[in-house]
Amino acid sequence: MSELPNRSERPRVLSGMRPTGKLHLGNYMGALANWVKLQDQYECYFFIADWHALTTDYADPGKLQSKTLDVAMDWLAAGLDPNKSTIFIQSHVPQHAELHLLFSMMTPLGWLERVPTYKEQQENLKGKDLSTYGFLGYPLLQAADILVYQAQYVPVGQDQVAHVELTREVARRFNSLYRSQVFPEPEALLTPSPKLPGTDGRKMSKSYGNAIGISESPMGVMFKVQSMSTGGQRIRQTDPGDPDLCPVGELHKIFSIPEVIAETRNGCRTATIRCESCKTEAGRSVCNVTEPIHVRRAMLELDVERIWEQLRSDSVNKAARRAEETMISVRAIFDISHSLGFTRRLSSATPEEQDKIRDLSAYTDWWDLPRDQRSRVLRDYWRDKLVPYDIPLSQEGNRAFSTIERELEEPFLTARKKRVFVTTSRDLNQGDKWEFEIPARSYEIWTLLCWRNSDKSLHDFVLPQKAFLSDFSLAKKSAKKEEKIPVSILKIEGNRYFLSIAGKTGKDITAFERDYQPLG
Ligand code: TRP
Ligand code: SF4
Repeated sequence: MSELPNRSERPRVLSGMRPTGKLHLGNYMGALANWVKLQDQYECYFFIADWHALTTDYADPGKLQSKTLDVAMDWLAAGLDPNKSTIFIQSHVPQHAELHLLFSMMTPLGWLERVPTYKEQQENLKGKDLSTYGFLGYPLLQAADILVYQAQYVPVGQDQVAHVELTREVARRFNSLYRSQVFPEPEALLTPSPKLPGTDGRKMSKSYGNAIGISESPMGVMFKVQSMSTGGQRIRQTDPGDPDLCPVGELHKIFSIPEVIAETRNGCRTATIRCESCKTEAGRSVCNVTEPIHVRRAMLELDVERIWEQLRSDSVNKAARRAEETMISVRAIFDISHSLGFTRRLSSATPEEQDKIRDLSAYTDWWDLPRDQRSRVLRDYWRDKLVPYDIPLSQEGNRAFSTIERELEEPFLTARKKRVFVTTSRDLNQGDKWEFEIPARSYEIWTLLCWRNSDKSLHDFVLPQKAFLSDFSLAKKSAKKEEKIPVSILKIEGNRYFLSIAGKTGKDITAFERDYQPLG
């Protein structure tokens, strides 16, 4: 369909926002609109930096969750798409904090004291005591946010460039201290942000109370634009004005189509348009952006629980998986003796919850996909939902000529470089028999995913070599090159599963269902 490389092979982009509540047009033009575009070209991670919010608001945390939700809903309403990007909350991925802590061991104090925002913010937020450890560490936590994903690009505004620069220094110091290449030096992707005036003509900012929200109702927007300052011009409507000195003129430049811009500028200069109608035009142009966002947000607000659910599950798993991959290398470098090894993804889930995760009946849309694509979706589902966090899997193989078929044949590699072949059942209609085809190559682990049509549930058998090696070697010997060997799982004797290779029924593999021991 598209010529772009697979999402996971595109350059990685990461950015975050502090949870300040509902977003305004300045946030949109300065960041969010650009993020929405980036989603199609990059592997994107976007998160809500709730820990960062606490560095300044530690004394008054009460609104953190509702502000976080407000940002999330505005993101989704504005077009960030969980199917394209990984969207999550910072504190849901504790690896950020772990890396921040480890970085704090090796980051000179002077580097942090010298970051310009440190002094500036302390000046600007005089009412708050910011002589804290956490506030000093703000940019270091940001460095951890970026580096834990080994991100290449960080789309931010000019005000964040110093933080990305610090991130680069931290990466360099780490790599040179430990003679490693763990961290690429990320680059800021500067978002060109037009100067956006608020209703009083000053820069739009929540703290000035002059902001127009991106999800505000059309009526609200029209009202605010109508009440905007004209920069003190055209007190009498018979006086001509200069649209370049008027905040409403600036809004036109950013939001209106060329015809409207020309008409209102001319009307202003010649005093042939009233400010009121000029503002109505400007309000309409702004509504072209905000109204669809408003409508989508209203829809999202109908089911807030679903949004929390989304933020808590899929995305976090994906983010944590990626972050954990980095942390495994970092912990090894610091000679720390544990990986989050025993924290299993499902360890705290009850058996009922585990079964629910494997109930795929909700996936009605991809159920209609062609078989090969369905296999891939199922495999991705397995990887994203069912594999414990502590088993990072990377993909091996040459993607240059990858069809879906081939992609499915490429094994995953575990952190310990074991080759994991994953395949899904070919046969949908027989509850007691699943058929697979396995290339005559050597893998250390087979993962056989069986979906059951009757109850749309998934069974995953994770087989170590000892479960299949002898029978498979025999079959391999007599197989021709490129031939695939038929393998099946049979449910017999009530509830026991047997593996059958090339027609020869052998081992009882019941015990290997959902057993990830050999993967680690
Ligand atoms: N400091 C950023 C801001 O105030 C928010 C942020 C936190 C961030 N972590 C980040 C941005 C990592 C980019 C990358 O806008
Ligand atoms: Fe501003 Fe428009 Fe009035 Fe000119 S006509 S002063 S641009 S509001």
